[in-house]
Amino acid sequence: MRPSTIPDLDTPALVIDLDAMERNLRRMAEWFAGRACKLRPHAKTHKCAEVARRQVKLGAIGITCAKLGEAEAMAHGGIEDILVANQIAGELKMRRLAALARRADVTLAVDDLANAAEIGQAVRHVGATVGVLVEVDTGMGRCGVAPDAATVVRYAQELSRMPGLRFRGLMGYEGHAVLVDDPAERRAKAEAAGRTLLDCVAAVRKAGIAVEVVSGGGTGTYDITGALDGFTEIQAGSYVFMDARYSRVRPEFENALFVATTVVSRPTPDRVILDAGMKSVSQEFGLPLVVEPQGLQVVGLSEEHVKCVATAGTCGLAVGDQVWLLPTHCCTTINLHDRYWCVREGRVEATWPIEARGKSA
Ligand SMILES: Cc1ncc(COP(=O)(O)O)c(C=O)c1O
Repeated sequence: MRPSTIPDLDTPALVIDLDAMERNLRRMAEWFAGRACKLRPHAKTHKCAEVARRQVKLGAIGITCAKLGEAEAMAHGGIEDILVANQIAGELKMRRLAALARRADVTLAVDDLANAAEIGQAVRHVGATVGVLVEVDTGMGRCGVAPDAATVVRYAQELSRMPGLRFRGLMGYEGHAVLVDDPAERRAKAEAAGRTLLDCVAAVRKAGIAVEVVSGGGTGTYDITGALDGFTEIQAGSYVFMDARYSRVRPEFENALFVATTVVSRPTPDRVILDAGMKSVSQEFGLPLVVEPQGLQVVGLSEEHVKCVATAGTCGLAVGDQVWLLPTHCCTTINLHDRYWCVREGRVEATWPIEARGKSA
């Protein structure tokens, strides 16, 4: 249980409950232990090399990133096998990608052949290669080529011939399924998406091209997509910390991330103002929840203030007391902080830099 006050925290502080995080990491690693499908955790959640190294130590085959800047930070932190599950475009990015490809094993998602040719040219220029996965739109309607066998086979053929590239397989992220509350509906959507990708894999193999990697999945679908015969890796991210939104979908993982705040004003008996705000906790999935103390509800955020009301009309909090919040979206909340305060049994055990925070370029 979290104590209501840890004096060593300089609030607003992004706090990891280390025991809970370690249980989450172990629980996910145990699910994948002994399976053909492996875990490649998504670093867009934690953005921290220390957490990534722990995931790899527990059996992850590498790390997934959303952005080149995240991948650079992970490589700098000692991660050698990186999937950028996203498109990379633009001349400056090509130069950075080429430099990264010289020091790490990098694989990218692609859905545009001209872009892929440019990538191949850039990495070849420095004597390197990158792996590529054809991203297929399996129902999310974001990036990816149409899930049509002829199109995907043509991509695989073209990519296999492009200098500088190693065609490795296919990727399809079922983002439209991961947060579906109803388990049966989530399963149906994820399985349909997975089968769509696996049909494309079969078509590519039938055309005589080897498919080594079949990648997809998230925290909401890891045990659905990961159980489909043919997937080789799952890109789950949020399971490491969870949040109020994802807990509804995946109660087997614990909330391990909090924002510790301090009461800075008590203007009326029922109103409590905290020293956090939009700059320290995100709200696109709803307002954060108060976890400590009981009897307090967040009713609004401004840039540097959280406004709470006492649900019983009054409360005993004073200026200087700590209040702990549970974010509704861990990934974007983490992006607002430079470091984690790692807490165990009521004491700060370590602080970890969040190296890839803000690295959206
Ligand atoms: C490409 C991709 N893979 C995997 C994930 C899974 O993340 P999570 O486990 O947080 O649902 C995401 C989430 O945004 C994603 O964009």
